[in-house]
Amino acid sequence: MDFKDNVVILTGASTGIGEAMAYELARQGACLVLAARNVARLEEVAAACRARGGRALVAPTDVTDEEECRELVERTVAEYGRLDTLINNAGLSMWMKLEDVADLSTLEYLMRVNYFGSLYCTYYALPHLKRSRGRIVAIASVAARTGIPTRTGYSASKHAMVGFFESLRIEVEDDGISVTISFPDFVASGMHTRSLGADGQPLGHNPLQVDKIMTSEECARLTLAGAAARKRQVVMSNRSRFGQWLKLIAPGAVDRIAKRAIAKGK
Ligand SMILES: NC(=O)c1ccc[n+]([C@@H]2O[C@H](COP(=O)([O-])OP(=O)(O)OC[C@H]3O[C@@H](n4cnc5c(N)ncnc54)[C@H](OP(=O)(O)O)[C@@H]3O)[C@@H](O)[C@H]2O)c1
Repeated sequence: MDFKDNVVILTGASTGIGEAMAYELARQGACLVLAARNVARLEEVAAACRARGGRALVAPTDVTDEEECRELVERTVAEYGRLDTLINNAGLSMWMKLEDVADLSTLEYLMRVNYFGSLYCTYYALPHLKRSRGRIVAIASVAARTGIPTRTGYSASKHAMVGFFESLRIEVEDDGISVTISFPDFVASGMHTRSLGADGQPLGHNPLQVDKIMTSEECARLTLAGAAARKRQVVMSNRSRFGQWLKLIAPGAVDRIAKRAIAKGK
């Protein structure tokens, strides 16, 4: 029950890994602020959190809007009086080769959601996290450590997140704030169906073998355990653990593993 009475802002809480983290945090008795754009879904998640024993406030937020991120933090502190944990989870992916991209604004948008969204929330949360000697969690991806075909813009935005949070970790260490970066491999969620295709629209189908990949619940559990222990990082699959070392001695082999994973959808 590491998050009992812990005041947590969770972005991307309306579905997928964020929804699963919301339920695990609620079970532990956290005071949640659930942020995303789909308010109806957030209300459903909030009700399910309350049924599990947590407190839950719905905060409609588009993380690409700096002012909305500032308001998210202000509302949290107005409601609960403090902030203990910020989980930057809201994210969006892509599934297309660069040469097929019709409009480059699609790749800019990925950067705005995945990188700038995390930056805005973290910037406004920082003074409150200093006071509580709190926790920052960033949901990155294996694509934040290595290149993945069909993911140029996504991988770039997740590499940016990691550079940002690894630098910030050093800045805030003496304030007692921990920064935990999570590196999920493929996870079963709606993200792949929502991934942007060549026309900038959601793909509309999931090319992955859903029964062969990690569940959102398992990803949420591992991430929160790492955050509770104030770990630097949570690396989830054997192939990503192995890949970190292999990349030092045989980077071409890691490229081939990434290519095969996309081709096989697992
Ligand atoms: N699934 C995987 O295989 C996988 C692997 C590695 C890393 N990840 C990372 O894990 C995180 C969660 O992904 P998921 O798999 O749970 O995907 P998901 O099911 O598509 O959920 C994404 C969440 O982000 C929110 N979101 C998207 N754009 C937003 C915006 N502009 N403002 C606020 N919220 C926004 C969505 O809510 P609304 O649409 O309601 O705004 C939703 O709650 C992401 O950062 C993703 O990159 C996922």
